Amino acid sequence: MEIASTVIELREKIQAWKKKGLKIGFVPTMGYLHEGHLSLVRESKKSSDVTVVSIFVNPKQFGPAEDYRTYPRDLERDRALLEREGVDLVFYPPVEVMYPEGYKTYVEVEDLQDKLCGKSRPGHFRGVCTVVLKLFNLVQPDEAHFGWKDAQQVIILQKMVEDLNLPVKIVPLPLVRDHDGLALSSRNTYLSREERQAALVLKKSLDLAEKLIREGEKDAAKIRQKMIELISTEPLARIDYVEVVNLKTLERLETIEGQVLVALAVFIGRTRLIDNLRIVSGGIEK
Ligand code: PAJ
Repeated sequence: MEIASTVIELREKIQAWKKKGLKIGFVPTMGYLHEGHLSLVRESKKSSDVTVVSIFVNPKQFGPAEDYRTYPRDLERDRALLEREGVDLVFYPPVEVMYPEGYKTYVEVEDLQDKLCGKSRPGHFRGVCTVVLKLFNLVQPDEAHFGWKDAQQVIILQKMVEDLNLPVKIVPLPLVRDHDGLALSSRNTYLSREERQAALVLKKSLDLAEKLIREGEKDAAKIRQKMIELISTEPLARIDYVEVVNLKTLERLETIEGQVLVALAVFIGRTRLIDNLRIVSGGIEK
């Protein structure tokens, strides 16, 4: 497995593969890898000839009061995990390679970027779209793999690819959970033991939504209210949002119909966690 840190090193490798006509799979990450990330890598390995993983904690997607500086980083551990998965190339650029002095160009996906997480994290998806488009231009993948853990990110990136006619297929993959149901996240490392326990309330509230929907509840406001009531019983939890929306438009729903996304963001202590549930053509997707 090779590690490229500059554009020249990366381009050399990519061009050699392109010349041979190899199919390139790509998994963009911010590192501190867990089984969620690795599930994307495994899928890429299955469907492409070569797999590139990027590790870059993107400063442009963090707000000024957010955790850019403290975001967990451990290249040696990540490198060992990716080596074991048989990844071909890791792109690990320093910030000045991605954003040299005087950097000025940004990508925005209007409306979708302002909903759900975009409301409490203004500028977040502008940062995500900008870095992902840059990474796509550098890696030139045939397929790029993303987790449903970040459902809004998937929807926004699919729209960016469609609107800008990018020659890459976005492949969304299932959300991976810990044994007790907590959605895996690099940010789980911030949680104390007590907070880790309290964080289970996110999944419990989604389980409640799933149960209500299975029992035939169609009133989205009622489902939302019951989820809020359940989360409010957890003293360490503070709700950022709980929403029941259309999976494509991210608009709030009155009635459960079509493709539905039940999404939430909850602070557990000082850590903001997200989780979601998708309901696609009558079935509940994990
Ligand atoms: P990061 O949070 O490191 O996640 C990288 C990829 O792993 C994303 O596609 C994310 O949805 C996926 N992922 C994270 N946790 C997961 C889980 N529990 N199950 C399944 N997939 C999971 O998302 C980002 O980085 C950044 O925004 C990025 C796209 C790299 C742009 O900077």
